[in-house]
Amino acid sequence: MKGETASSSPICTTLVFSDQPRCRILAPFGVRIKKGVIMTGFDGVLRERLEGMREGGSERYLPESRGDLIDLCSNDYLGLAKFPALRMRIAAAAAAEEERVGSTGSRLLTGNSELAEGTERELAAHFRGESALVFSSGYAANIGLISAVVGREDLVLFDELIHASLRDGIRLSGAKGWKFRHNDISDLSDKLARAPRRGRVWVVVESVYSMDGDRCPLREVVVLCEQWGADCIVDEAHTTGILGKNGSGMVVDEGLEERIVARVHTFGKGVGVHGACVVGSSVLRRWLINRARSFIYSTAPADTFFIAIREAVRMGGSEEGDSRRRALWERISVMEAVLGAAGLAWRGESPIVPIVMPGVAVVRAMATAAREAGYRVLPILAPTVPEGLERIRVCLHAGDDPAVYKSLIQVFEKRGWRAESRGGE
Ligand SMILES: Cc1ncc(COP(=O)(O)O)c(C=O)c1O
Repeated sequence: MKGETASSSPICTTLVFSDQPRCRILAPFGVRIKKGVIMTGFDGVLRERLEGMREGGSERYLPESRGDLIDLCSNDYLGLAKFPALRMRIAAAAAAEEERVGSTGSRLLTGNSELAEGTERELAAHFRGESALVFSSGYAANIGLISAVVGREDLVLFDELIHASLRDGIRLSGAKGWKFRHNDISDLSDKLARAPRRGRVWVVVESVYSMDGDRCPLREVVVLCEQWGADCIVDEAHTTGILGKNGSGMVVDEGLEERIVARVHTFGKGVGVHGACVVGSSVLRRWLINRARSFIYSTAPADTFFIAIREAVRMGGSEEGDSRRRALWERISVMEAVLGAAGLAWRGESPIVPIVMPGVAVVRAMATAAREAGYRVLPILAPTVPEGLERIRVCLHAGDDPAVYKSLIQVFEKRGWRAESRGGE
C-alpha cells in the first residue's frame, strides 16, 4: 500500500493517500476516509471536526504577537501592564519579600503564607468588603464561587450575556439556570415572580458586559432581588480599576457593598496583572475555603503573584491611577464623538466598544484591514457572541493617542462599513 505518513503520535497515525479507490478498502476495518486522507484514532476525529470548523470560518487561531501594531484590543485599560514604574515596584518587592518561587501546595496544605493573607486583607479594605479570597484567575474564581454557594435545588437567573466562566459555574452547581434578556429589568422581574421557591434564588450579572461594554442597571437589580428575596452575585472584571473610588468597582461606586452577596474582581484587565478575588463576608470566605474546588484542589499561586496583585491594586488606587482613569474617560468621550460623527450612537459607558459587523468573513476581513493599517484589533465570533452579531471589539486605553480612533473607523468605512450595517442591535 502506497502512502505518506502525514503525522503520527503514540495513539494514532494519519496517512495521506492519492489513490482513493485503494483507501476505501480499509473502511470496513473502522478506518475513516475523507478526501484522500485516511484518519485513524481520535486525532482523525478531531481533524475532521476542525476541518468542518475551518470550512465554516469558525476555527480559532492563536494570533501572532506583533509589538509594532497599535493596541486597540487588550484589556490593559489603564496601561499598567507595561508601566515601567509598576514593573520596578513588583521586582523590588519580590526581591525583598519573595521567600520561594513556588508555593509548594494548595493554600489548605503548604501553599498558604502571611503574604497571601496580608494581600487579601488589603484587597478586602480596598474593595470595602469584610473579606477577600484570591483565586488564580477570574475563571477559577467564578466557577469556584458559584459551584460552592449555589445548591442543586436552587435557581439561578442570569443575564443572557454573562461570561462563559459564570455559565460554567452555574452548570457545575447542578442548579437550574434561567436566562433573562440582557439588562431587561422587566424580564428579570417576571422571572423572579415565576421562580419556584424550592431552594434559594440567585441573580448573576456583570457590572460591565465584556463583549458589549454596557453597564448593568445594578441598583434596580439589587432592589428587585431584595423584593423577591433573591441573592445577587456581580462579576466586576471590567470595572475593577476603572470605576469607583480608587478603581474599587461599580458596587462601591453605587454604595451597594452591603447588599450583594459576592463580587468577583479580576486583576488581569484594569490593573494590568493577573488573578482575581471574591469579596464578601467573612463567613463566605470560610465557606469558599471549604467548598470552592478550584481553590482547594489547586496549587496556590507563588509569592510574586500576590506581590504583583498587591502592588498593581495599590498603584491603580493611587494618584497615578486617578490620572490614568481621567485620561481613559477623556478618550472614551473622544470615541463617542468619533462614532457619533460616523452615525453610530454609542454611549461610552466603559472602554469597550463593540462595532458589530455581522458575518464571520466580514469581521475577519475588517480585522485584517485594520492590521494592515497598523492597528491591532481582533474579530469576535460565535460562540463568544451570538451568531449574526460578530464584531470588532475595540478597547480604549488611558495612553491611546485619541487621533487613532478616527483613523481606525475610516479604515472600516473604506472597506464598506456603515453604521446602519450593524445588524441585530
Ligand atoms: C466578565 C469576565 N469574567 C471573568 C473573566 C475571566 O477572568 P480571567 O481572565 O482572570 O480568568 C473574564 C475574562 O475575559 C471576563 O471578561
